[in-house]
Amino acid sequence: MKVQPLTPVIGAEVSGLDLCNLSDGEFDDLKDTFTKHSVLFFRDQPTLAPDDQVAFAKRFGPLHTHPAAPTLAEQDEVFVIHAHKDSKVANGNGWHTDVSCDEEPPLATMLQLHLLPATGGDTLFASMYAAFETLSETMQNFLLTLQAHHESEHVYRGRYSDRGVEDADKVYPRALHPVVRTHPESKRRALYVNPSFTTRIEGLSRQESNALLGMLFQHQQRPEFQVRFNWSPNAIALWDNRCTHHFAMWDYWPEERKGHRVTIKGERPFLEAMNEALNEAPVLGNLRLSRQL
Ligand code: SIN
Repeated sequence: MKVQPLTPVIGAEVSGLDLCNLSDGEFDDLKDTFTKHSVLFFRDQPTLAPDDQVAFAKRFGPLHTHPAAPTLAEQDEVFVIHAHKDSKVANGNGWHTDVSCDEEPPLATMLQLHLLPATGGDTLFASMYAAFETLSETMQNFLLTLQAHHESEHVYRGRYSDRGVEDADKVYPRALHPVVRTHPESKRRALYVNPSFTTRIEGLSRQESNALLGMLFQHQQRPEFQVRFNWSPNAIALWDNRCTHHFAMWDYWPEERKGHRVTIKGERPFLEAMNEALNEAPVLGNLRLSRQL
C-alpha cells in the first residue's frame, strides 16, 4: 500500500490495494491510514459491483440506511448519486457532513463515481479537527459546553420527488448533538455543526445562536482546512463523517455525473473529558499559529 498525503491536515491518495480482496492485516493498515488522514482517495480500482462495494464497506461495520435517498432496486444499501441536465438538485452541493440529523449519524461514506463531466464535479473536503483546534481556547472551552439541534425536514422534504421518492407520510429525523465531538479512534476533538443540518444551539437565544453558528460556518470554510479532489473515472473517496465536511461542486450542468455511494453506520456523537496528554495531541503544524489571526 502506497500512501501519498495531499495536505498537512486532511486527505491522502492510496494506491496498490485491491479493495475487494484485502487481507485482515491490509485492512487494519488501511483503517489506521483512514483515521490519520480523515479522507482517502483511490484511483486504481475497477468499477465495483454493488455487492462488492457493500462487502468492502461492511468491513468497517454495519451499513447505514439513508432516510430519504433513492437507492438501487437490487441493492437498497447503495445510494445512486446522479445529476444531469434535468436534475433539480445535485446531492451534496453545500457544506455538510452526512445525515448529521440522525441520532446515530454515519461513521463514513464511500463513493465511487463511474461517469464524470468533461471538467468540474470536484468534491471538497474540510477537516473539522483543524476547524476546532484553530479556535481560541476561550471559544473552544465555551463550545465544549454546548449542544446543537440538527434537522432535516428542510433538506429532504420533496428533494428526490423527480427520482420517484414519495415522502408525504415520512417524518424526517432530527437530533441534538454536542457542538464538539470526540473521535472514538483518534480521540481528537472535531467541530460538529454544519450549515446544511444544524439549525440552532440549545440554550441560546435565536439571535445568539445565529451569530455563533454564522461565525463557526464561516470559520469551517477556511481553505487551509481543505483538500479538493478532482475525480477520474472509477475513483473512490472514503470520508470520515465524524471529523470532516464535504461539498460536491455542481459546476458542470448540463453535463452528467453518476456513481454509487454506501454509508457505514456510526454511533451517537459524544464528547469525552480531555486529559492533559490528549490536550497536547493535535499536530497541525502552522495551523496552531494561525489561531492568532
Ligand atoms: C455526497 O454524498 O454528499 C455527494 C458527494 C459527491 O457527489 O461528490
